[in-house]
Amino acid sequence: MGDFPYADRFTVNRTLPEQGRPRADVLAELHAMAEEEDAFWESGKCSGTMYSGDHEHYRFLAEAFGDFAHVNVLQRDMCPSATKLEGEIIAMALDLMHAGAVEDTTTAGMVTSGGTGSILHAVLAYREQAAARLNGRRPNFVKPETGHPAFDKACHLFGIELRTAPVDPANTVVDPADVARLVDRDTIAVMGSAGNYGYGTIDPIAELGQLALERGVGLHVDGCLGGFILPFGEELGYDVPAFDFRVPGVTTISADTHKYGYSFKGSSTLLFRDKALRNAQYFHLAGWSGGKYMSPGIEGSRSGGLLAATWAAMVHYGRAGYRAHAQEIFATAASMMAAVRSHPELRIMGHPTFCFSFTSDDFDIYHVADRMRERGWRFNGQQYPNAIHMAVTRPQTRPGVAEEFATDLAEAVAYAREQHAAGKEAFSSAIYGGVAGGLTTEVEDLIVAVMSDMLDIQQGLPPVGTG
Ligand SMILES: Cc1ncc(COP(=O)(O)O)c(C=O)c1O
Repeated sequence: MGDFPYADRFTVNRTLPEQGRPRADVLAELHAMAEEEDAFWESGKCSGTMYSGDHEHYRFLAEAFGDFAHVNVLQRDMCPSATKLEGEIIAMALDLMHAGAVEDTTTAGMVTSGGTGSILHAVLAYREQAAARLNGRRPNFVKPETGHPAFDKACHLFGIELRTAPVDPANTVVDPADVARLVDRDTIAVMGSAGNYGYGTIDPIAELGQLALERGVGLHVDGCLGGFILPFGEELGYDVPAFDFRVPGVTTISADTHKYGYSFKGSSTLLFRDKALRNAQYFHLAGWSGGKYMSPGIEGSRSGGLLAATWAAMVHYGRAGYRAHAQEIFATAASMMAAVRSHPELRIMGHPTFCFSFTSDDFDIYHVADRMRERGWRFNGQQYPNAIHMAVTRPQTRPGVAEEFATDLAEAVAYAREQHAAGKEAFSSAIYGGVAGGLTTEVEDLIVAVMSDMLDIQQGLPPVGTG
């Protein structure tokens, strides 16, 4: 398709058209693009990102979204429904995270724009709550190396020092003693993942909770990925340790409704053991000429559509629906991991559940990624060591996909052996969100180049005369 998608087929809009186009015409263009792009992941060969992959479900969500898409939930007097929907989303998420086990405080929550949104709000809340205690000293936050970059982003944005604890390469989780060494009087909180993005493994949350209580700091559990699937894995008898409010010391949890909650992109929940911490990140400006301003978080106006779609997904599936999907996903992940384990050259990293990574000590695993890509698979590439990441979602649970994975993997392993023997370099690389082709180094210059490529070219227009 080249650098300028669809420029060869559809009009390039270089200016706001003077005369608009009929709705049917506009929709036809959008439908054509959507249909073509959906065909890629509908094969079931795409890791993560399409958590539901069920068009009937998407149509249902779109209908719920459509009823409230135009509503601004910041103006609550005009949309009491938003109060009901948001309140119930939070209540249901708190219940899933066993907030009922909390006796000493009042639990609370908020709906945010996604995993990063929830993490930003959590880190901000910890900073604001600790401000008086720190009395001008710089706060710090401790994460295991596997903690999502959203924590680095939050610390960067909010002027917090980020301290990173190493992760045991054998089991891919953090040793609480390493976290303990980094905690001092200016630490506002530490975090652990359930599970982490990279390996799908779960940090020792109970020990981290103990540490948090002993040292008087917060503990955020990043359940962005696992929050809406691990509880059902636990119910189904899989080895899922408690990571939620049952664990003493856990003070906040992020759990994304737009991942395994099967809602539309743009929604997540952030849950607090103590309402006082949630209140710490409110913003208000009483003396503004435009009126007394306040917002419950970082965003201003928000669409009611996302609340409606998220609520609709949750009450439509209920626990039984989520459990049934979890059962299929856990079983598919087990079958795909068995295929990986059947090759002595491959090694699953740590003890994952529904999302896993594998590497090789015998050859560069990106040779495997190269061949699998030719077979239509889209994995995320990881580094230190190079690894292939697979978050199993509903599209992989379709009949035949796991079997195809096993067949293609066997062929890719044979190819990797050959490439290695011939001294060839692999083509794939470690780029979050996709294995990009043709990149063999991970230097900062390259990352900056990729970013500017994305912004300057991908969001740009084709040269005049094209399209
Ligand atoms: C464990 C974990 N935390 C946080 C995030 C960030 O979520 P988002 O991309 O919705 O901002 C992700 C995304 O995959 C994740 O896997």
